[in-house]
Amino acid sequence: MKPVEIKPGVYWVGAIDWNLRYFHGYLTPRGTTYNAYLIIDDKITLVDTVKHYLYDEMLSRIKEVVDPAQIDYLIVNHVEMDHSGCVPKIMELLPKAKVVTSPQGKKGLLRYFKREWDFMVVNSGEQLNIGARTLNFVHVPMVHWPDSMVTYIPEDKLLLPNDAFGQHIGSAARFDDQVGWDIIHEEAAKYYANIVLPYGDNVLKALDVVSQLDIDMVGPSHGVIWRSYLDKIVPVYRKWAGNETEPKAVIVYDTMWDSTTRIALALQEGLEEAGVPVTVRFLQTNHMSEIMTDLLTSRAVLVGSPTLNNGMLPSVSGFLTYIKGLRPKKRIGLAFGSYGWGGQGAKEVAAILNGMGWEMPVDFINLQYLPDDQELDGVREAGRKLGAAILA
Ligand code: FEO
Repeated sequence: MKPVEIKPGVYWVGAIDWNLRYFHGYLTPRGTTYNAYLIIDDKITLVDTVKHYLYDEMLSRIKEVVDPAQIDYLIVNHVEMDHSGCVPKIMELLPKAKVVTSPQGKKGLLRYFKREWDFMVVNSGEQLNIGARTLNFVHVPMVHWPDSMVTYIPEDKLLLPNDAFGQHIGSAARFDDQVGWDIIHEEAAKYYANIVLPYGDNVLKALDVVSQLDIDMVGPSHGVIWRSYLDKIVPVYRKWAGNETEPKAVIVYDTMWDSTTRIALALQEGLEEAGVPVTVRFLQTNHMSEIMTDLLTSRAVLVGSPTLNNGMLPSVSGFLTYIKGLRPKKRIGLAFGSYGWGGQGAKEVAAILNGMGWEMPVDFINLQYLPDDQELDGVREAGRKLGAAILA
């Protein structure tokens, strides 16, 4: 396997996971990569590793450049095992290497692997001279784990931020301009919405640090390397981190006998009449990780469920559990649903949306059995009212 020289003396030696379709609850139709970087200098340095089952692929790329026994430092920017999974195996080939990581990184590696390697713990702002280059370490806690750290190489104007700026794209292309903005933007948005969204405040702090650095290339740990679209992705990241949305709505629902579908579609009509673009996502045909991409940029989120066994449908409950964990803020919510008796489904949805601190300018909608024309007129009116609040 061939490495790719991304800067003079800096090689991509990662691995391509062509077949990955599911990443802890997140669908990855394009597969992904795990990116490791090898720096040839007076002291030879490997930055991160790959998922355990792609060890041979990474090793063959490293061996094309250098005998692994010559590696002096292994930097672990992040402990999650898609990046640290090969640390135990590669360390067997690195007799003189120190493992360079944050204090939380050391704790995590010890908990996972129970090996007392020769650790070099670095604090945020510390530097490590490796010859012609000085590696700068900046801790970015909770972007997206407590141990998360980025490595910056000023001499190469290169930032290696691990998961930040990642995208799940498994491709022979190594650089953003080889894939094109539309695809990379879509995958970066999906990645942000499903992985990074809860940590917006930390992302903003990290962006403030990064904006002071002289950078012309960013090598994340997943997907392609940014070199041509940096001026586009950084402001977009800032918007996502600040929960800045567009005046549009996403309707997410499941149904039993189509009563909730009718309400969803009447809401769509009302919103559109008010001038708000709407995306409709049926939970039986859309995976929640795909819906998160719509939700990332939508100001309003409408969630509908019929009542089943005195509660909401499990599909809706699963979706709400997922978004509660991802903590989107500054959204407008509306709950709706249908019931035969009891009617707890929509009430439960409303309670969860309220609990997330969202604005709820329109009362939740809960209609018995099949909504009639008059009731649907009322739903359209609610949609128009919500639309006015979205555009306000
Ligand atoms: Fe790609 Fe947080 O691991």
